[in-house]
Amino acid sequence: MELSEKVVLLTGASGGIGKSLLEHLNGNVKILIGSGRKNLQDFTRIKESDKFNYMPMDLTSEDNIKFLFSYIIEEYGRLDITINTIGGSLFSHNIEDFPIEEYDKVMNTNLKTAFMLTKESIKYIKRNGEVGGNILHFVSSSARDISPGKAPYGISKGGLESLIRYAAFEAAKYNIKVNGISPTYVFTERHEFEIQLESRKSGVPIGDIEKKKIEGQLLKRKLYPKDLFPLVDLLINTEVITGQIYDCTLGKTLG
Ligand SMILES: NC(=O)c1ccc[n+]([C@@H]2O[C@H](COP(=O)([O-])OP(=O)(O)OC[C@H]3O[C@@H](n4cnc5c(N)ncnc54)[C@H](OP(=O)(O)O)[C@@H]3O)[C@@H](O)[C@H]2O)c1
Repeated sequence: MELSEKVVLLTGASGGIGKSLLEHLNGNVKILIGSGRKNLQDFTRIKESDKFNYMPMDLTSEDNIKFLFSYIIEEYGRLDITINTIGGSLFSHNIEDFPIEEYDKVMNTNLKTAFMLTKESIKYIKRNGEVGGNILHFVSSSARDISPGKAPYGISKGGLESLIRYAAFEAAKYNIKVNGISPTYVFTERHEFEIQLESRKSGVPIGDIEKKKIEGQLLKRKLYPKDLFPLVDLLINTEVITGQIYDCTLGKTLG
């Protein structure tokens, strides 16, 4: 099956990477269902159409996730691909000071949602029979590198790496391929804005802040969401790759 014949769910569609993927996939797949917490008109000019549906909801709730999937099946009859970009480090403290309620929020956002999305995706994609389908999660280089003050985020992304491998193992019998992309710092619109704010506050020039962000990379260039498109296209189409997590760190992990 071509991508243009597939029904695709994109979560985190209102986020920095998700919004770029929404723009990339809209019109190129049979049906695109996007989901985020914001309303559509609050982050993009793209409008709903007969090929694009947007469902704003909090996906840390299992009821909401079940509703989202049953809606997709009732409305479109099938699901072929799930792309999950929900995530965020949310808070910054050392472990000894990390409030447990904040720890729970980080784990729920990054790992529990991913688990529930994987669970429902397998349940519904397996109905495609031998055609199967694909699940793609966004991990983070923080799963392996140390991001100071972000232990729960790193732990949740480490858990997500395990989830990808377990899900690939269990879902292979349904021809469902499960993979992950693990980027380093991505220059999303939100990150560019945060850098501007930091520069204004600290007086440090934007260029110097950006240099610091990429200093551990072997390739000294900024990673943009659109740089991830070829890898996303590969992993949502692949028939032969499963249980893999692709580093997209511009060589940082070799340094
Ligand atoms: N950007 C980076 O530098 C970078 C690097 C490595 C890995 N990653 C990973 O890549 C993914 C995308 O990153 P990003 O920069 O695009 O993040 P982002 O801009 O913060 O977007 C996160 C997305 O997740 C959604 N979301 C958060 N909590 C949710 C919840 N409870 N229910 C439903 N949706 C929820 C947000 O919805 P709303 O905005 O509507 O609230 C938003 O669409 C994340 O998993 C992140 O950990 C990012």
